[in-house]
Amino acid sequence: MKSEDHSDLPHHRHRIHQKRLVALAFKKYSKPVAYLILLLLAYALGYASHSQPRLSQAARDLLDHNNFLAQCSSPVPPAHVRQTILNRVFNGTSPWENFPPDHVKNLLLPDWKKGWGSHGAVFENLIRRVRPKTIIEVGSFLGASATHMAELTRKLGLETQIICIDDFRGWPGYYDNGKSLKLVNGDSMLLYQFMKNVVNVRASESIMFLPFSAGTALVGLCDWGFTVTWSGGVLFGHDYFLDVDNYGVRRAVDLFARLNGFRVEIDGEHWVLA
Ligand SMILES: C[S@@+](CC[C@H](N)C(=O)[O-])C[C@H]1O[C@@H](n2cnc3c(N)ncnc32)[C@H](O)[C@@H]1O
Repeated sequence: MKSEDHSDLPHHRHRIHQKRLVALAFKKYSKPVAYLILLLLAYALGYASHSQPRLSQAARDLLDHNNFLAQCSSPVPPAHVRQTILNRVFNGTSPWENFPPDHVKNLLLPDWKKGWGSHGAVFENLIRRVRPKTIIEVGSFLGASATHMAELTRKLGLETQIICIDDFRGWPGYYDNGKSLKLVNGDSMLLYQFMKNVVNVRASESIMFLPFSAGTALVGLCDWGFTVTWSGGVLFGHDYFLDVDNYGVRRAVDLFARLNGFRVEIDGEHWVLA
């Protein structure tokens, strides 16, 4: 059996260099001095070749925590995105069929689109720049930003599928506001009101949704071949200037950008990582 040639590997070159140093030490010095030199050399070389960058334990824990090793399936082509979700999540039947069901019809408001900076300039700026085939929105609520994006992609002649991830629960206690979502046996009508708002602007062909928590929905998407490719892709969101939780969104975005080597751009109240 032919042995493999490892001569170009760094650890191989490192060992040859060590052997030369050993020979040199024995040639030049008496045995005890040579052994002492070798001991020091071995320590220094071992340290140089095995030491990690000097990070605190907390920083190493953080890096470790952010090290996602998930291998997503091979990318699903944009043209198959909608059908993949229909098959995987809705057993092949569109959730828009026979909408709205009888038991919620009278509970839905004709039009209710509360949003959070959902019409900011960033949407048009980025959609014009990236011309996306797929948009994944995490957190859709009543669909204000999703329907705005659907209108923009339509205006620009793009065939874009917008995937809305939301558990459609909103927040505990939110239901008590003046223009309130009704609860039916403790179940929120948020999903149905979102769907109604989408139908109102005739966007059900370009908007699909995943009614799950972000964590579980993203695991599913990864399994089905929805991978975020940074070449040409973009990640953005709101609340960069919100002081809640000591500017929690900003701190999370800045940390993510720093750990992954991105630059944070600001567009209005939105942050953008490109
Ligand atoms: C601020 S609203 C989204 C606003 C929307 N993008 C717009 O511009 O109109 C946040 C939404 O995120 C959803 N949400 C929060 N945490 C979530 C989680 N872990 N998984 C899924 N949805 C979540 C809430 O149900 C809520 O509808």
